Amino acid sequence: MKALVLAGGTGTRLRPFSYSMPKQLIPIANRPVLLHCLDNVKDAGVTEVGVIVGDRGDEIRALVGDGADLGLRITYIHQECPLGLAHTVAVAADFLGDDDFLMYLGDNMLLGGVREQAERFRSRRPAAQVVTVQVPDPRAFGVVELDGYGRVTRLVEKPAQPRSDLALIGVYFFTAAVHEAVAAIEPSARGELEITDALQWLLEQGHAVDAERYRGYWKDTGRFEDVLECNREYLDGLPPRVQGTVDADSTVQGPVVIEPGAQVVRSQLIGPLIVGAGSVVTDSRIGPHTSVGRDCLLAGAGMEYSITLDGVSVRGVRGIHGSLIGRSASVASAELDGTAGTRHRLVIGDHTSVEVAA
Ligand code: G1P
Repeated sequence: MKALVLAGGTGTRLRPFSYSMPKQLIPIANRPVLLHCLDNVKDAGVTEVGVIVGDRGDEIRALVGDGADLGLRITYIHQECPLGLAHTVAVAADFLGDDDFLMYLGDNMLLGGVREQAERFRSRRPAAQVVTVQVPDPRAFGVVELDGYGRVTRLVEKPAQPRSDLALIGVYFFTAAVHEAVAAIEPSARGELEITDALQWLLEQGHAVDAERYRGYWKDTGRFEDVLECNREYLDGLPPRVQGTVDADSTVQGPVVIEPGAQVVRSQLIGPLIVGAGSVVTDSRIGPHTSVGRDCLLAGAGMEYSITLDGVSVRGVRGIHGSLIGRSASVASAELDGTAGTRHRLVIGDHTSVEVAA
């Protein structure tokens, strides 16, 4: 079995981050989402991987390379325009040949892995196998309808009035039967070739499409609230590890990961949290559920339930909560330049959101 991992797309819901980086490189516990996906592909016993990239392919290539470090063999496949998930299957036709494959959306996090699902597909070999999760509002997803025996009766992409609460999550297993389906379907109202429509086509032609519930934690990291929530969940299961230094004037509560070269001085750490390699944290109170990226500088900072990407500096600002701070951004207290209480100095890019205490 091969894998097709999707790392194209524009990530409009993750602006402003997606202006400067592919959305698949947003970190969960300091590891880009795409690498978490590739870890799961490897764990499912697949090593031959096609990665679909769009305009931002260079950054993805720079991170993942030929895949050897991950124990994978990676072929990059360029998709000119993001014309839909089913379109990527057509673009990857030469790479896929007649092989079975696992299709994995590179912004979906599945904390329990997909090994069991892969084993079931290998042993049963239906034309396609999908994975579902019950969601409160399925309208943003592909929706699966089942009969009383758990058999798939219908699949609909983003229905206005869903007839079930089972959402398709970003992992699919296919035999080569899908190629005919992809060739047969028409673009949807949003102008994309939907993989959900290809699955529905298979069903209508009498092919077997199996669905099963995912028991582990799943999150589509398409929006920033989802990134924070997923980060919290992931940190909750992360084994503690201190490879950097924590001085005697600091206190540590709960599980923490301090990466090599990181220094913590006169600070209070409340796990679960991670401090990235080379970061320096002084006189701060960090955590719980916080990821500090690499080479960050936190001085007199207070931060919980937040993520800073690499190279961030936070000086003299406490009470940071539910925040995502982009690469090399700087957040500083006005007290440092003597203008406290009189003004806020903000240099903010497009589609950015800031909340300040007036
Ligand atoms: C895509 C699929 C949808 C699926 C979702 C899972 O949606 O079209 O069927 O439920 O991924 O994350 P999109 O992210 O393109 O809106």
